[in-house]
Amino acid sequence: MKNILVIGGAGYIGSHTVNLLKKSGYNPIIYDNLSKGYKDVAEILNVKFIKGDLGDRKKLKEVFEKENITAVMHFAAFIEVGESVQEPAKYYENNVVKVTKLLDQMVESGVKNFIFSSTAATFGEPVKDKIDETHQQLPINPYGKSKLMVEKILEDYDTAYGLKSVVLRYFNASGSDKDGIIGESHIPETHLIPLILQAASGKRESIKIFGDDYPTKDGTCIRDFVHVYDLAKAHILGMEKMLKENKSLNYNLGSGEGFSVKEVIEKVKEVTGKDFKVETVEKRAGDPAVLVANSEKAKKELGWEPEYSLEEIINSAWKWENNRRY
Ligand SMILES: NC(=O)c1ccc[n+]([C@@H]2O[C@H](COP(=O)([O-])OP(=O)(O)OC[C@H]3O[C@@H](n4cnc5c(N)ncnc54)[C@H](O)[C@@H]3O)[C@@H](O)[C@H]2O)c1
Repeated sequence: MKNILVIGGAGYIGSHTVNLLKKSGYNPIIYDNLSKGYKDVAEILNVKFIKGDLGDRKKLKEVFEKENITAVMHFAAFIEVGESVQEPAKYYENNVVKVTKLLDQMVESGVKNFIFSSTAATFGEPVKDKIDETHQQLPINPYGKSKLMVEKILEDYDTAYGLKSVVLRYFNASGSDKDGIIGESHIPETHLIPLILQAASGKRESIKIFGDDYPTKDGTCIRDFVHVYDLAKAHILGMEKMLKENKSLNYNLGSGEGFSVKEVIEKVKEVTGKDFKVETVEKRAGDPAVLVANSEKAKKELGWEPEYSLEEIINSAWKWENNRRY
């Protein structure tokens, strides 16, 4: 059984990937400093948990010596775009500087396979209807820049040290485990679907729409929602291809379908049967009107096919919303 070190595995996307890795016959080991994630995930999923920081080379060295790690999946990062504008140093430290420490330790310890959580935010303002891997990468905030920097570092580490990587650029990760056992819980929450569900469950007074005069069909922003288990599946498919072919890869991961903010709100009302207050407020700086993925490359090369519809995404997230432990 292959041991996979999942850094940031106590967080949202990491924990769902740990679950799927286990179900797919791998032995995932969570490594997380718990700055954001939840330790009970390891108990619930019955996997080994190591408390440690991404930048702690000594600790990582010990783990690599002891655990015979085949590949590292790296989810750990700070992820709030707005905060990254206010506090860029925090983002460059955690999302770039500490990642170089991890990569250097991997090279020193002879662990040469890396799977990296990147983001649609590396592209900046879209110049095409659907964003494929050839789209220009001109990020407009420190969060997106920090992720693009790591993508570039990975290219150089492959050339110089033979470290192979799979870069996966997610669009809007959403949904939860269908049994509602693990789910999305960011503090503060900034993602659209959990925010709408909090309004539906009465935990939030209303849901705010940031601008309704975008050049889209109903004036609100259009986004591409991809279920967290579809993302998890892409990690396993990408890792397997990298291990088999010993080459670095990169893919954009989305459903390929865009939904406006108003459409998502209506879908939540339909799925939950709840009505709630919707307010339109000022636009936020740096929100592109439309962000939709072209994931044909992942479909063709990995045989990846997103399975979950928007309705299923909302259904699973609603189940979690009603059962959430935090
Ligand atoms: N959520 C999305 O929609 C989305 C979209 C695109 C990309 N991403 C990327 O996916 C990854 C996971 O996102 P998420 O939503 O699961 O975030 P999350 O905050 O739920 O999980 C991140 C985990 O990393 C851990 N962590 C952070 N810094 C650490 C450090 N220095 N050392 C050890 N552990 C550390 C946290 O404790 C947390 O458990 C991130 O890299 C993010 O940039 C997320």
